[in-house]
Amino acid sequence: MNASYTEMAGRLMVALDYPDAERARALVQQLEGIPCYMKVGMQLFYAAGPDFIKELKAKGYSVFLDVKMHDIPNTVKGGSHSVTRLGVDMYNVHAAGGVQMMQAALAGAEAALAETPGLVMPTIIAVTQLTSTSQKTMNNEIGINGTVEDTVVRYASLAKEAGLHGVVASSLEVKAIAQACGQEFKTVIPGIRPAGADVGDQTRVLTPGEAIAKGSHYLVVGRPITASPDPRQAAEQIIEEMIQA
Ligand code: C5P
Repeated sequence: MNASYTEMAGRLMVALDYPDAERARALVQQLEGIPCYMKVGMQLFYAAGPDFIKELKAKGYSVFLDVKMHDIPNTVKGGSHSVTRLGVDMYNVHAAGGVQMMQAALAGAEAALAETPGLVMPTIIAVTQLTSTSQKTMNNEIGINGTVEDTVVRYASLAKEAGLHGVVASSLEVKAIAQACGQEFKTVIPGIRPAGADVGDQTRVLTPGEAIAKGSHYLVVGRPITASPDPRQAAEQIIEEMIQA
C-alpha cells in the first residue's frame, strides 16, 4: 500500500446504512484491508448500539458516528459526553441548533476527556444543509431565504465560532467554506456519485474526483458502494479516482 493509497482510503468514509450489525459486518468483511473510515448513522446505531462501534474500533477502523444531534444545549452536552466516552473519532451535530448548542457539544466532549485519561478529542462537525436539500426546499419549506451556499457558509462560520472542527456540506460549497473558515476547517462531503451512478434522494452531487479536486477533506459514500454487486471493487474504484484527482 503506497502513501497516496493509504491517505485517500483514509479520506473515504463508507456509510454503513444497514438495519442490523450482521449486514454491516458482512460489508466490513468484504472491505477488509481497505483502510477507510467507517460511518455509522442512525439506522445502524439505533439497532446495534455502542457494541458495534466498539467492534469497529477493535478492528482498527476510524469511526464517524453520524447521529446529527439537535436538541437543547444541556442534552447535546450529555450526548456528546456519551459518544466521546465511546471513543468515536468523529461525530456531528446540527448547526441549526445554534452557537450555544454547538459550544455545549464541545463542553460535553471536554468533560469526558477530563474524566477519562487516554481518550482523544473527537472531530466534532456541524451539519449545514443536508445534501438532499435543494434551494427550493430550503426557501419554501425550511423557511430560509437566499442561496444554499450562503446558508452553508453562515452555518460553517457559526460552527467555527463555537469551536467545532468542521462541517458536513456538499462539495459544491467546499471552496466558499474554505474561504470563510480556512483550509484547516474540515469538510465532510456526502452526495458523492461516480459518473453514471444512481443519484437517489441526493440533489447536490459531484463525482469523487470532482469533490477531491475542490478540496474536500472527507468523502462520505453509501449506496454507490453498499448497493454495488461488488462493493470492494466499487470502493477501490472510488479510491483510485480520488488518487487521480
Ligand atoms: O447512499 P449515499 O451515498 O447517498 O449516503 C450518504 C450518507 O451520508 C448517508 O448515510 C446520509 O445519512 C449521510 N449524510 C448525507 N447528507 C448530510 C449528512 C449525512 O447524505 N448532510
